[in-house]
Amino acid sequence: MDKVERYKEILEAEAESHHVPILREAERALFLSVLEKSKPVRILEIGTAIGYSMLLLAAHAPQAVIDTVEIDEGRYKRAMSVVNDLGLSCRVHCHLGDAAQVIPTLFPGYDFIFLDGPKGQYMTYIKLIEPLLADEAVVVADNVLFRGMVVGNEYPPHRYRTIVLRLREYISYMKSHYETTIYAAGDGLAVSLKGNRKI
Ligand SMILES: C[S@@+](CC[C@H](N)C(=O)[O-])C[C@H]1O[C@@H](n2cnc3c(N)ncnc32)[C@H](O)[C@@H]1O
Repeated sequence: MDKVERYKEILEAEAESHHVPILREAERALFLSVLEKSKPVRILEIGTAIGYSMLLLAAHAPQAVIDTVEIDEGRYKRAMSVVNDLGLSCRVHCHLGDAAQVIPTLFPGYDFIFLDGPKGQYMTYIKLIEPLLADEAVVVADNVLFRGMVVGNEYPPHRYRTIVLRLREYISYMKSHYETTIYAAGDGLAVSLKGNRKI
């Protein structure tokens, strides 16, 4: 087994034992298929966690330079150790901080975005990211169906009200401004294409 495959297994086990939410198996195949068809050259990921999806991004888009943002210092350090151990530091840049503060410091030209940070902030993030998007780009957002509560107009349970209403707002915005498909895999994956982008 090569080092990347070994790391995948290690990180999956770590995520399980430390209750770190990572890309679920149910949506992984779809995510990788969208990623590989996109052939991105610059990727921005919001929500690195311990570096599991970052590892998938790096392995399945070997031509891409990746920026990934994480607010939790322990998780950021773990992701950094993976980057260094795999010799990826020339093309994977981990940023420690609040995505809303970090995004405006980044350079434009991203053609693949993976939104996987706080679900209630997707709308805020896409507004900050839009000036950084290439003319043709793919925006993938995870958990957009949030336990099945997002579809329809039903009033969500009080404790999830804000997150569900914000995800509905995100989906509605992405459908009206991008060619957007919502996939039911896992917790729901939204794939939005900018400009003439086809995958
Ligand atoms: C679902 S996890 C990311 C999982 C990762 N993408 C993967 O599949 O391996 C979401 C991450 O977003 C981070 N996060 C939460 N709020 C954030 C913020 N304001 N800025 C940056 N990261 C944030 C959390 O600490 C958490 O590690």
